[in-house]
Amino acid sequence: MLAATSHGIDGILAECGGNAMCATCHVYVDESWLGRLPAMGSEEDALLDGAAAERRPTSRLSCQIKLTPDLDGLVLRLPDRQV
Ligand code: FES
Repeated sequence: MLAATSHGIDGILAECGGNAMCATCHVYVDESWLGRLPAMGSEEDALLDGAAAERRPTSRLSCQIKLTPDLDGLVLRLPDRQV
C-alpha cells in the first residue's frame, strides 16, 4: 500500500492509513504469487468481506503485505473500485 500511494498509483485509497480498518487498499494478487505471501489474518479476512469490489480467492489488503526482497516482482491488479 505504501509503495503504491507514495508513487502516485491511482486506485489505492488507503483511507485508514494502513491500520486494517477500511479495505480501500484491496488488490488482486497474481495467482503465481499467492503462495509466497504471508497468511491472511482474521481482521484482513473480515474486512475483505466488506470490500467495495468483488472479493476473489486472490484478494488481499495491500496494507497487510509487507514487502520483502522475496517479493521483488510481485504482481498485483486493482479492483474496479475501492468505495
Ligand atoms: S489501508 Fe485501510 S485497510 Fe488497508
